[in-house]
Amino acid sequence: MGIRSRFIVIMAIIFGLATLMIGIASYKFSVQNAMTEAKSKGHLIFSYILANREFYVKHQRPLIMEVFEKDRFYPELMSGFVLTRGTFDIFKKNLVGYDFKQATVDPLYPPNKANSQELELVDMFRANPALKDYEGTMERNGETFFYLAKPIKVEGKGCLRCHGDVADAPKDQIEIYGTENGYNWKVGDTVAAYVVYVSVQEALVAAKKTAIVLYMIGSGCLLVALIGLWVFMDRFVVNPLVSLSVKAEDISMGRNLEEPVGVKQNDEIGALANAIERLRMSMVRILKR
Ligand code: HEC
Repeated sequence: MGIRSRFIVIMAIIFGLATLMIGIASYKFSVQNAMTEAKSKGHLIFSYILANREFYVKHQRPLIMEVFEKDRFYPELMSGFVLTRGTFDIFKKNLVGYDFKQATVDPLYPPNKANSQELELVDMFRANPALKDYEGTMERNGETFFYLAKPIKVEGKGCLRCHGDVADAPKDQIEIYGTENGYNWKVGDTVAAYVVYVSVQEALVAAKKTAIVLYMIGSGCLLVALIGLWVFMDRFVVNPLVSLSVKAEDISMGRNLEEPVGVKQNDEIGALANAIERLRMSMVRILKR
């Protein structure tokens, strides 16, 4: 392989790898950014949901309970879980890419039923009672989501009025939700998990696109640089060397001795050309003698 090809191949490998690394690093950075953003959005939404819920439970519900007869139960007015679910159902209609679920092993309201991934989360909270929350990424219908989950425990006997023995449950509740599911829970049991979902799908696609564009630009620059190098090597290294080697060969055979060395450069090859030129002149002098 000639000096020029060797040089170009080495440069192509080094810069090609560097371009690839830049592409990969850009992808990793973008994904990391997307995750950080999704995380902060998830935490924000969660905090708002819980704050809304707390205000309702502490300040609104006691007043509501005063207004109604003791044995009546209107879920929309009297259940924090219904309030939270109903509010979020409206919220997510206007804003795609978000979801929230009170994912429950055995719920009164069937859409609250935990899917297999959510069941795993509830099981994990059951196995680790000290765990306050848990986050990660999850695939749902081929879309990647960041999720943040917190356990829901049956905190005291109060919950059992509606989730314990069916016989104790308000008749309004039985009328709406039936008697099949959502009962016989036990105090202290982790029965469900709040899970907030934030889609990172779009951000992942954008990250891939950016990385590919960067890689293409890098490759384009690399191609231009390699062509430049090729031309430079041709003009300043390979051609002068070829002509010097022809000249040296000529001198050694005693051919064309009157013709001076044509290469004039201000570098190492120029120095070699000067040396060969001196050799030629010495040869001419010796032969004349
Ligand atoms: C006065 C009755 C009542 C009480 C007391 C009550 N709940 Fe509920 N709970 C309901 C109803 C009704 C729903 C159905 C929510 C819906 O329609 O989304 C529900 C829903 C839930 C859900 C969502 C899963 C499901 O069953 O649909 C969880 C989890 C839950 N409750 C936990 C609790 C906990 C924990 C307590 C005690 C702190 C509690 N509940 C106290 C009536 C009650």
